[in-house]
Amino acid sequence: MKLTIEYSNNPISNQKLDAIILFIFEDSGLKGSGLNSLPTSLKKNLNTSLKLKVFTGKKDYCQQLFSGHANIPQILAVGVGKKSEMNSETLRRAAGKAGIMLTSLKAKKIGFAVTSHLQNTSETDVGQVIIEGLALGSYKFNQYKESHNEKSKLESIKIQCCDPENITSKIALKIGKIRADGTNLARNLGNTPANDLKPKDLAFAAKNIAKQHKIDCTILEEKQMKKLGMEMLLGVSRGSREPAKLILMEYFHQKAKQTVALVGKGVTFDSGGISLKPGKNMDEMKFDMCGAAAVLGAMKIIGQLNPQINVIGVIAATENLPGGDAQRPGDIVTAYNGKRVEILNTDAEGRLILGDALSYVVKEFKPNAVIDLATLTGACITALGHYASGAITNNDALMGQVRKASKLSGDRVWQLPSYPEYGESIKGKYGDLQNIGVGDSGTIIGGMFLEHFVDKTPWVHLDIAGTAWNVKHIGYQPNSGATGVGVKLLADLIQNWEPIK
Ligand code: BES
Ligand code: ZN
Ligand code: MN
Repeated sequence: MKLTIEYSNNPISNQKLDAIILFIFEDSGLKGSGLNSLPTSLKKNLNTSLKLKVFTGKKDYCQQLFSGHANIPQILAVGVGKKSEMNSETLRRAAGKAGIMLTSLKAKKIGFAVTSHLQNTSETDVGQVIIEGLALGSYKFNQYKESHNEKSKLESIKIQCCDPENITSKIALKIGKIRADGTNLARNLGNTPANDLKPKDLAFAAKNIAKQHKIDCTILEEKQMKKLGMEMLLGVSRGSREPAKLILMEYFHQKAKQTVALVGKGVTFDSGGISLKPGKNMDEMKFDMCGAAAVLGAMKIIGQLNPQINVIGVIAATENLPGGDAQRPGDIVTAYNGKRVEILNTDAEGRLILGDALSYVVKEFKPNAVIDLATLTGACITALGHYASGAITNNDALMGQVRKASKLSGDRVWQLPSYPEYGESIKGKYGDLQNIGVGDSGTIIGGMFLEHFVDKTPWVHLDIAGTAWNVKHIGYQPNSGATGVGVKLLADLIQNWEPIK
């Protein structure tokens, strides 16, 4: 659905809208939600609903009602829960819930009311967060439905921010929209099936973003990777007819003091290779490029918000298939940084392709910090489920910044330990390293494998295996499909960057 955003600081009584969205606190009614000054005839039915406790303002609960007020005939009341527990994520989720219901309102022009009450403990601009939630909540992936073409033409809604107290601003709304669009781009890439999204398509998407937003983009082809000695990446790609791509996006700012690299796992389909995965749910391995999608979505946002920092986006894109020339368990390859790695399981491919991407970006760009995002281990789902991404780091200060961005964005991260003992089991028998360890704590081991490829550069690895798709019970997330996790986290990290030593 196409959303057009408008801004108005006229009183609501002067507005003519098909519907209005009102954010209401639990058990404090219209007064405690700062909506007392609404036109009396608009409030009437809503007051009845509140009095009868049909609608209570409980978190994530919505009620649709007819107002009886001629100029604004429909109301969508959205609960934001208790005032004392309110933060920007609660508001984002509430707006997301409203976003899901936008189409059912049968309205072309919808307003939402912003009151200073919503500001309370919220760290981010209220208008930004609401637009972000609305635009994320109204996302649908229906490109592969027959009815898609006719329908999408009709689904266009104007959203007016009604802000009589001047709490938010036009710019903040625009930022909210840009952030949601970046996330929705990542969701689209994630949801696209692997027959339509190959490594070359990720490269094409990167080129497109780069062209639109004045970012440099270079694609390293297999021939160049061979010259550079990236045998880990090329080894994974061997089992597929589709050539691997190493995608480099460079965003520069004249006043930048530091450079941050964002590295994404772009396995467009992970069959496991010769160490073939079981058939059940293997279709979900089209999502194995969600780390790459997060980097692309973030670069699109960065290109529009122009932060004073240099950002390098790197994507290792390949398929992992068991073709006739596929890599075998027992093969030993030489990484870009010279380390010899024994492949004991071809399904542990993410760490191989990321290892080469990481050591390349560290050597070529000397970034002050590196963040990588990857659907790296099924073990991460066992450990954390779907409500936090796992983090491994070699630098507490950088981890602190990631944690802050996590709070702001609502993309939760949870740090896992990386005591040296965990890394013992990937020391190689024949080579320097082997690509799997023994025993438990697979997420930590996967992360610590990567650590061998970042030198001493401050680095945070985010395992998004559990958070990248099929996340339920979050207002702005669809119940199935790609979430676009990491996009707003990276956007907040880059926007609020504090130089590190
Ligand atoms: N892409 C998978 C990880 C994954 C699996 C994410 C299921 C989400 C759901 C990754 O490439 C993989 O296969 N990892 C192996 C590692 C193992 C062989 C050490 C895994 O998790 O089983
Ligand atoms: Zn994988
Ligand atoms: Mn795998």
